[in-house]
Amino acid sequence: MGIPQQHRSLLSTDDLTDADLRAVVNRGVEHSTGGSGGTRTLAGDLVGVYFRMTSTRTRTAFSAGALRLGAQIIAYGPDDLQINTGESSEDTGRVFGRMLDVMVARTGLPQQELAGWADPDRLCVVNAMTVEEHPTQALTDLTTLKARFGRIEDLRVVYVGEGNNTAAALALTLPRFPGVRFELRTPPGYGLTDDIRERAEEHARRSGASIVERHDMDALPHDTDVWYTTRWQTTGTSKPDPGWRDVFAPFQVTRRLWEHSPRAVFMHDLPAHRGDEVTAEVLDGRMSIAMDQAENKMHSAMAVLEWCRGAEPTA
Ligand code: CP
Repeated sequence: MGIPQQHRSLLSTDDLTDADLRAVVNRGVEHSTGGSGGTRTLAGDLVGVYFRMTSTRTRTAFSAGALRLGAQIIAYGPDDLQINTGESSEDTGRVFGRMLDVMVARTGLPQQELAGWADPDRLCVVNAMTVEEHPTQALTDLTTLKARFGRIEDLRVVYVGEGNNTAAALALTLPRFPGVRFELRTPPGYGLTDDIRERAEEHARRSGASIVERHDMDALPHDTDVWYTTRWQTTGTSKPDPGWRDVFAPFQVTRRLWEHSPRAVFMHDLPAHRGDEVTAEVLDGRMSIAMDQAENKMHSAMAVLEWCRGAEPTA
């Protein structure tokens, strides 16, 4: 481990090379198994944690993770900054760069505006969720898969639910692993954006994985390793169509999905609404690894912070 010197930002998982992606996932697994040796790789760093929107896992994960790595944190809530009284986003980011090493932010700003805060000479910015992407969630999920299956290559993952920022982040990462078959079942009118689908398909073409999206629950695959869902009301978004629940109802994850894949695990990024996107029987059942996944947010956050600062192992 060297002294942290880099200011790399994670706005999208596309900011990671294939080697970076694997290194961050492997490092997250190391942290989760206690194999990282409790090193204080971010000692001396100052990490800002700015959440203008609600969060339980991501905010706690980056705060706890930064402290465990020896950094100190400054936490900002939704009402704390002069951005609320009209200070520009640009000036806000420039000030952070003069005082902090890392800023972990869930601001509600468009991703491009958040990207404007990143400064390779002064400030790492971590996207803790935008409407477009949720990169730290995907890294958590890959860490969880690697820890559970010992590999990501060749896994068969079916995502059921809205094509939201979590679905986008999975679509931009899973198809980077050869042999992965990633299938999405998204309600009609609530699928991936064209931009995300095109980028995901490009990853799949390059690696030899596959990605398929359908808008029904017919002809489900029989050999699934992972069923994955997210809550129907994605944080920071609303659905103008008052009838949206009827469109989503057939996409509830229930026990019947395990009829032909009895060994499959269930994943959920949480928070969950039992009785909406998933039954309590599944979420709280033996097939569910959702709480391991939640814990891995912290281990993966530690790996992300180390990558941003160039403090990750070089092997
Ligand atoms: N999954 C996730 O991002 O959880 P929080 O919104 O609680 O951070």
